[in-house]
Amino acid sequence: MGSHVEDIKERLSITDVVGSYIKLEKAGQNYKARCPFHTEKTPSFYVSPERGSYYCFGCQAKGDIFSFVQAFEGLDFMGALRVLAERAGVQLTRGNWSKDSKKELWLTIMEDAARFYEDMLTRYAEARAYIEGRGLSAETIGAFRIGYAPSEWRLLRTYLKEKGYRDEDVISVGLIKRSTSPRSGSDKSGGDPYYDTFRGRIMFPITDPSGRVVAFTGRTLDEEANPPKYLNSPETALYQKSKVLYGLDRAKSDIRKRDYSILVEGQMDLIMSHQSGFTNTVAVSGTALSEIQSGDSGLSLVARLSKNVIVAFDSDDAGVKATDRAVRIALSLGMDVKVAHSKGGKDPADILRSDKNAWAHIIKGAKSFVDFSLDTLREKGLDDKAFRRQVVAKVLPYIALIDASADQTTYVKRVSDATGIKEDALWEELRTITKKTSDSVRLVPVPAESTKSDRIDLIERKVLGLLYSSLYFKGDETKRLLIERAVGPERWRELSTLPKEVLSECTLEAEVSYGDSTDLEREWRELLFGLEEEYQKKRLALLLDALHKAERDKRTGEAEKVMKEIDIVSRRIQELKTLITSL
Ligand code: UTP
Ligand code: MN
Repeated sequence: MGSHVEDIKERLSITDVVGSYIKLEKAGQNYKARCPFHTEKTPSFYVSPERGSYYCFGCQAKGDIFSFVQAFEGLDFMGALRVLAERAGVQLTRGNWSKDSKKELWLTIMEDAARFYEDMLTRYAEARAYIEGRGLSAETIGAFRIGYAPSEWRLLRTYLKEKGYRDEDVISVGLIKRSTSPRSGSDKSGGDPYYDTFRGRIMFPITDPSGRVVAFTGRTLDEEANPPKYLNSPETALYQKSKVLYGLDRAKSDIRKRDYSILVEGQMDLIMSHQSGFTNTVAVSGTALSEIQSGDSGLSLVARLSKNVIVAFDSDDAGVKATDRAVRIALSLGMDVKVAHSKGGKDPADILRSDKNAWAHIIKGAKSFVDFSLDTLREKGLDDKAFRRQVVAKVLPYIALIDASADQTTYVKRVSDATGIKEDALWEELRTITKKTSDSVRLVPVPAESTKSDRIDLIERKVLGLLYSSLYFKGDETKRLLIERAVGPERWRELSTLPKEVLSECTLEAEVSYGDSTDLEREWRELLFGLEEEYQKKRLALLLDALHKAERDKRTGEAEKVMKEIDIVSRRIQELKTLITSL
């Protein structure tokens, strides 16, 4: 596997890989971009072609092409390996990478099950008739790997057992269940306590963003005799429902190309969308949205591909609720959110089936979330006063979720125009909402600002970066001694033995920070004085503490000695301050 990684790294440049996901701008020998891993307006994400690495000054995200693809696409290492191997044209030999973990075994079971269900679909005419009756072409069926689980108790169970998989592993991925009372249902038992989870259902494999099957959704052929309508795989080690968006593996490149995504609800809406050419569509599964608690929704992956999303759910009550939820999540991810609304209770799949253009029209007519909710309230026919109250209660909380006040401005204007409420009053209202709800409503944690205690760390990284950079001091011995003097010999020993990757990050940071510096020596001295000042302050704090204790215990001699040291240290701090201001 190691050699695969090296092979791939040799063939793919980091700028090509990262550049295929986000727009890179040249900055000296490096490239910069707006960081895909946190919300920001000005670029602090840097890529170094020379080192094959990236680093973000804003959120400290860092790594190589593998960790980038992992983080960006929400994959594990194996998933990223798969994506990059395909891109590099490197053949992964199965034996090389499948046996090393339980997870790989489970994925293999899922893959076998998917093939089994696909095969069954070709054998059962009633299943094929159903799926064709819903308007899916043979090509679509193949592309989405749609299958069938016949209405029998143990077809898959027997198949997987004969393939040699252990029951506990097949249970782990949720494909079979163990009957609690083996003797009760005669059809169930037959001496074997295990039976298939999915029976009498059209099977839709759910894949991770690299295309590996991690779960299934099965739609019943008979809603009355065999409920529920849709049955999902249970949550397993492979599958966390709230994190997976259906269709993302097939939609991701078109979301990037078209620079927006369409979010629908459920398998049929998604598949019909793709079949009709809306290939930048992804789907949440009906129940999953309500379970999203934090920023780990699949939507954060979509947000990295494009900031623009159109939420296009059903227009029934459940659909409106889900829309509300999706809009909030998208806004707190910093997305630009529009809502497309299909009137008359038809869902996207119905509309697409009868008229593709009608759907294109609805998507074109998508409104910003503020206009959408204003319109929804208007349709209620409230009197002026009630309307305004409702706008403040229902629309402003959305606006409060937007990060930058610059972006809020347009929406505040819009609300002011619609209600006649003064903008000032709306801003005031917004402030109270933001205060009240800052933590409870925010679905995505905001990365913490770097605190003052990081200052030493920050300066140390910079001086080390400059010292070791091949562009700057190239390990200069005098410079090295100056650092050692500033931080003390003990700390210097720690710093000089930092791992190579850390040091190479530091040099990248330094090159980025000082790339266009006109007076490097001056900046260097400022860093050095600043660094020593921080260390002296630390010493001062310790000495003051020691003085306090000595006085408390009435050790006069000791106290006097400490006083002298305090005097020296404070003088040095003053000196350093003067030095810095005189630079
Ligand atoms: P709908 O009932 O609107 O289903 O539920 P649908 O997509 O229109 O399905 P068809 O057209 O009748 O086949 C919307 C979504 O809610 C989830 C599914 O993800 C479904 O696509 N759902 C629905 C379940 O998980 N379980 C159910 O029993 C029903
Ligand atoms: Mn439907």
